[in-house]
Formats: sequence, C-alpha cells, structure tokens
Amino acid sequence: MPTPSDMHDKVALVTGAAAGLGRATALELARAGASLSLLDINAQGLEETAAMVRELGARAQVQAIDLSETAQCAPAVAAAVEAYGRLDALCNVAAVFIPRHSAAMTDDELDTTLAVNLAAPFKLIRAAIPHLLETHGAVVNVTSCAAFMGQAYLAAYSATKAGLTHMTKSLAMEYMHQPIRFNAVAPGGMMTALAMGLTKLEDPDPSLLGRIAPLRGLVEVEDVAQMVAFLATDAARGYHGACINIDNGITAG
Ligand SMILES: NC(=O)c1ccc[n+]([C@@H]2O[C@H](COP(=O)([O-])OP(=O)(O)OC[C@H]3O[C@@H](n4cnc5c(N)ncnc54)[C@H](O)[C@@H]3O)[C@@H](O)[C@H]2O)c1
Repeated sequence: MPTPSDMHDKVALVTGAAAGLGRATALELARAGASLSLLDINAQGLEETAAMVRELGARAQVQAIDLSETAQCAPAVAAAVEAYGRLDALCNVAAVFIPRHSAAMTDDELDTTLAVNLAAPFKLIRAAIPHLLETHGAVVNVTSCAAFMGQAYLAAYSATKAGLTHMTKSLAMEYMHQPIRFNAVAPGGMMTALAMGLTKLEDPDPSLLGRIAPLRGLVEVEDVAQMVAFLATDAARGYHGACINIDNGITAG
C-alpha cells in the first residue's frame, strides 16, 4: 500500500472525489504526498474533500464538472496540468448506478450511464496519455464485480463496467512498450451512497437480488481506496493490464 513518500511531488486527478471511494482514494493519495485535482458533479462534496486533503498537508484543486457532458473531459485534464505543471496519475472513480427493469430504462438513463461510466473515462484517458507518458504515470480505472457476473436490473451498468475493464486491458496492450501503466480495480458491494440505489428499485424479484447480495459482508471502502492509490504509485510497477478484484469473494462462484 502507498507509503507517505510514494506520491511526493506527484499529481493525481481523481474523479468521483466528492464522496465514497473517490474521496477515500483522494485522501490515500494525499497521505502519500500527492497534489490532487478533484473532479465531481457535487461541488459541495468536492469542497469537503478538498478541505480534508489540505488538512493532510496536500494541495487540492477542485473541478465541479458533469462527466455526462463528455466534452468537459479534455479541458479537465488540461486544467489539472495547468494547476500543477504535470500529471502522474488518473484515477477514474466516478460512476452512475441506475438499477432498472431493463424494459423500463429511459434513453436518458441509458445515455447517462454510458457517458459517465464508459465514454468519460476514455476521453479523460485520451487527454491524459501524453502527460502520463512524460511522467511515466499510471491510469487506474474503478470497475466492479458487475463486470464479471450477470446482475439482474443492472444490464447497462454492468455492460459499462465490463467495457471499462476490457478498455483497461486493451490500453495496456497498446502501450506495452511505452512508459505508462493501465490497471483496474473491481470492488464488490461497499457501503456508499451508490449502493443505496438498489433499495429504490420498484418491485424487484428478491430471489434475483439475493444472487448479488454479499455472502461475506460488504467490502471496506478504505481497503479499495488503498489498492487504487497503490496502483497509481511507482511501487506498483509490476502491474500492467491487471484488474484486481476486491469483492469478499462474490465473483468466486
Ligand atoms: N458502492 C458499491 O457497492 C460499488 C460496487 C462496485 C463498484 N463500485 C464503483 O465504485 C466507484 C465509486 O462509487 P461509490 O461507491 O464511491 O459511489 P458514490 O456515489 O459515493 O460516488 C460516486 C461519485 O461519482 C460522482 N458522479 C456521479 N455522476 C457524475 C457525473 N455526471 N459527473 C461527475 N461526477 C459524477 C458522484 O457525485 C459521486 O461523488 C464507482 O465507479 C462504482 O461503480 C461501487
């Protein structure tokens, strides 16, 4: 896991940084010495995270941006580089989670899911690659156990997570001979605002929800954040094209 000096003089852009895993990742990276560019649609949550980062003695830039407007992605990377003069890590943590009976999912819900969970990470990565090649940096994408198992009422979400997992591996192949690393972390259920989305589903079949209920309990957000932050550091130099499952065994069988 990252030590207090692993990200000294380095810069990380973290999406989804206003809450949950994104906030925890930002704090892990701040403890490791990074300067942070914090991106989220939730401006108030971002300010709270920025205050926590600064309390740890690290620098924080705040970018309140809606990633469903994917034209904002390249300017967000440029703003991080402009603020600090470099970029060493991009952590794509933000996602939307809209459990639906698939026949009832609206075009807007589908488009937002695809934009935030799949198109935005691609566009952020595309803009970050030249900077990360300069610094021998890393991309860490947060996917999900949903990438590895069919999950009822989550057809669109799980497709984006499987897509992001495979995007990570394909990028790792494309950049095999260049100084940049691409990895993913696939958490199981964590106690965050996102997970509460399932409780709002109308008229679910309990036997199907039971198939995605954790058998060994929820995963600790901090455990996942430590892995995301670790993969962003040079100490993770042996990881390239990996997807690390941290899911309390839910994808075991
Ligand atoms: N919580 C779980 O059970 C669980 C399980 C597996 C994977 N994940 C993944 O973990 C990651 C973090 O999720 P979390 O559990 O911390 O949830 P969360 O809801 O606490 O955090 C998600 C963040 O993304 C931000 N976001 C959403 N839409 C956005 C947009 N359009 N533009 C910018 N920011 C936007 C939210 O404001 C929020 O701060 C996600 O990629 C999620 O898919 C979560």
